[in-house]
Amino acid sequence: MKRAIKYPNLEKTDPEIAELNLLEEDRQFWYADFIASENYASPAVREAGSSVATNKYSEGYPGARYYKGSDAAIDPVEILAQKRALKLFGLDENIWGSNVQAASGSEANLAVYGALLKAKGHANGEDTALGMRLDFGGHLTHGFHVSFSGKLFHFEQYGLDEKGYINYAEVEQLAEKFKPKLIVCGASAYSRVVDFEKFGKIAKKHSALLMADIAHIAGLIAGGTHPSPFPHCDIVTTTTHKTLRGPRGALIFARKDIKHGEKTIFQLINSGVFPGLQGGPHNQQTMAIAVCLREANAPQFRSYAKKVIKNANTLCENLKKYGFDIISGGTDNHLMLVDLRPFTVNGEDASEWLHQAGIVVNKNAIPNDPLPPQKASGIRLGTPAVTTRGMGVTEMRQFAKWIHGAINNPSEENLKRIKNQVKALCKKFPPPGFE
Ligand SMILES: Cc1ncc(COP(=O)(O)O)c(C=O)c1O
Repeated sequence: MKRAIKYPNLEKTDPEIAELNLLEEDRQFWYADFIASENYASPAVREAGSSVATNKYSEGYPGARYYKGSDAAIDPVEILAQKRALKLFGLDENIWGSNVQAASGSEANLAVYGALLKAKGHANGEDTALGMRLDFGGHLTHGFHVSFSGKLFHFEQYGLDEKGYINYAEVEQLAEKFKPKLIVCGASAYSRVVDFEKFGKIAKKHSALLMADIAHIAGLIAGGTHPSPFPHCDIVTTTTHKTLRGPRGALIFARKDIKHGEKTIFQLINSGVFPGLQGGPHNQQTMAIAVCLREANAPQFRSYAKKVIKNANTLCENLKKYGFDIISGGTDNHLMLVDLRPFTVNGEDASEWLHQAGIVVNKNAIPNDPLPPQKASGIRLGTPAVTTRGMGVTEMRQFAKWIHGAINNPSEENLKRIKNQVKALCKKFPPPGFE
């Protein structure tokens, strides 16, 4: 690839890192990215993310900082990001508050738990939370035992029913049995619509707070292609770098009208982020988040969200034609979980072969996976990144054919042949800013 992005200072000061950066640029250009949690941030988002705002310390919140010098730009940037976040999801700022400081999705979730839940071993008794099992599509931070969420807090876990849909009956039974303080919904590898209304009814019936983690689907919700969690939830967390197409970062939304003791849950969560979990916010990231929220508010973003779903559906239906089993039989969103057992290959080998063919995916456990997570019986595929490159249904049909071709015949020669074809296609669809 002819170098498109210029980093003259980096090249002069640190040629070693400049060279590695160039290699990463090349990789992102020539490979087709089907990792469901990745995307290409726009050049404007990337510029804001590398701005001089990185030089400023600003522990605290706008108007209440521990360091002077935030009033010129840092406070207005954070206020703008907060307001744009509320506007994007159509929220009334008298009812909802937004926090834009959590460094990433995991920190956002831990800040909420730290703010609202009594940890294991608490003198006044621990609180219980419900979350989705990791091997059924949930996230590490939804109570998995190796994550701080599961180490520090008492989580009970729900899964999927035999059809591959969230087992709402199990959520109800667990709520009845454990009387949780918090129910967490949302997932990392779930291809169906999350029924936030159903979760809301269960939470209300059992007097639990409801938190939706929309890290994966935030862009789809903003783009109007997935129902909104806000009418049914008390807290919503998200990352900003997946379907929302922003920089790495997170948003937390919480209600200002629900009290938990003396304070509102929004006040408690703000304190949960700072000083509870973090020091100073990453101001360059806040700037980039503000830019991404502006972009996501534009009409083109709605059409992007529609195309992401159409592409996922086309890829999924075509993979089925080639004999692949899809967990739950299909997809309503941007991703699909492919059960590879009909091809007697595991996720580790399949993702390696696909990588050699120029197609980047991740291995993924499937429900009740007979293999350990290091091998896994599935792969997860998502369309947010290829859609950002401008690829459409014709290309998705082609990729289904290549994916089948690579897995069916992983000879070196065949993988190389597919890789050359993938490269030729990638050349026609440069990511934004790589042109
Ligand atoms: C549902 C969900 N929540 C939280 C996270 C954590 O985000 P991060 O990697 O930014 O900590 C992820 C990341 O994949 C996720 O899928």
